[in-house]
Amino acid sequence: MTDLNTRQKDTLAAIAAADTADAVEALRVEALGKQGWISQLLKTLGKMTPEERQEQAPAIQQARAAVADAIADRKQAIDDAELDRKLATETLDLSLPAPATPKGTVHPVSQVMDELAEIFADLGFAVKTGPEVEDDWHNFTALNMDENHPARAMHDTFYFPDRDADDRAMLLRTHTSPVQIRTMMNEGAPLRIIAPGRVYRSDSDATHTPMFHQVEGLVIDKDIHLGHLKWTLETFLKAFFERDDIVLRLRPSYFPFTEPSVEVDVGFAIVKGRRVLGGSGDAPGHAWMELLGSGMVNRRVIEFAGLDPDEWQGFAFGVGVDRLAMLKYGMDDLRAFFDGDIRWLQHYGFSPYDQPTLSAGVGASS
Ligand code: DAH
Repeated sequence: MTDLNTRQKDTLAAIAAADTADAVEALRVEALGKQGWISQLLKTLGKMTPEERQEQAPAIQQARAAVADAIADRKQAIDDAELDRKLATETLDLSLPAPATPKGTVHPVSQVMDELAEIFADLGFAVKTGPEVEDDWHNFTALNMDENHPARAMHDTFYFPDRDADDRAMLLRTHTSPVQIRTMMNEGAPLRIIAPGRVYRSDSDATHTPMFHQVEGLVIDKDIHLGHLKWTLETFLKAFFERDDIVLRLRPSYFPFTEPSVEVDVGFAIVKGRRVLGGSGDAPGHAWMELLGSGMVNRRVIEFAGLDPDEWQGFAFGVGVDRLAMLKYGMDDLRAFFDGDIRWLQHYGFSPYDQPTLSAGVGASS
């Protein structure tokens, strides 16, 4: 027994003197590890008579518990001391700027679509969308472009090999105008909507990409006339370009889905090599630039969409969103819009935290 007592005392003293976690661990293995001296003593209990065991077990168990407790306490003390040391010596400066996280930008096309939605929301227009994979009835027929219309030609358009359940040819929509038809059929009249989105044509050069963006506008009501169209376009373009001196010229034109049709030009000047919108195109140093197509909705289109053209009438317009972005923000190559070059996006993109600058509303400046 004195043996046990002495060893226990020595072990406890060694533990108390150990000053690293490793040293404590070595002592634990020495005493309580598989080959440790206490473990070996515990094993001998199994070979004893019950009487011997009864006599010796308590002291061995007590030694095991005392050593285990001392080790746990010592480990805790060493950990605490280490933490205290760190707290006393290490510093964390919370006022340092955090490392920058890479931040994406909002693409100018998305930005312009948001701006358009804001402007037209102020005028009471809702935003509608339609499918990019269209059938030829919505894309052409219902817009008064019959079977033989040249815009249906293969080289203008991407067709799919299969037809839909109604045996209609399927294609990537060539304009946002089919959303006019879909919205009239789904919601009836009256209507004030814009329909922004992607459109497709087999075109590719510096100013044409096979995919581009348009926004369609449609107003259907009982007594809409060309004056409403002109005022709406003027109000929209002044708000969009943030200039009060935007001057429009309406030129007679032809679209199958409008009658009469007008092409809308905007006056601009070249200032330091850049186009600056504003002023009459007839003023000195100015010229006209074609901006968008529009007109009074053709009665046949209203009929195709299931409404009575003697009761309902309205106007429509369609404009390239990419082109609006180029004119407002000064890019000169359309192809770069869709290259996904991060440098272009960093340069021309918008902060996701910015709001379109129209919070004061349409007409706030007048
Ligand atoms: N859909 C025509 C195009 O893609 C643009 C257009 C012209 C739309 C006149 C209209 C409109 O709604 O009235 O070229």
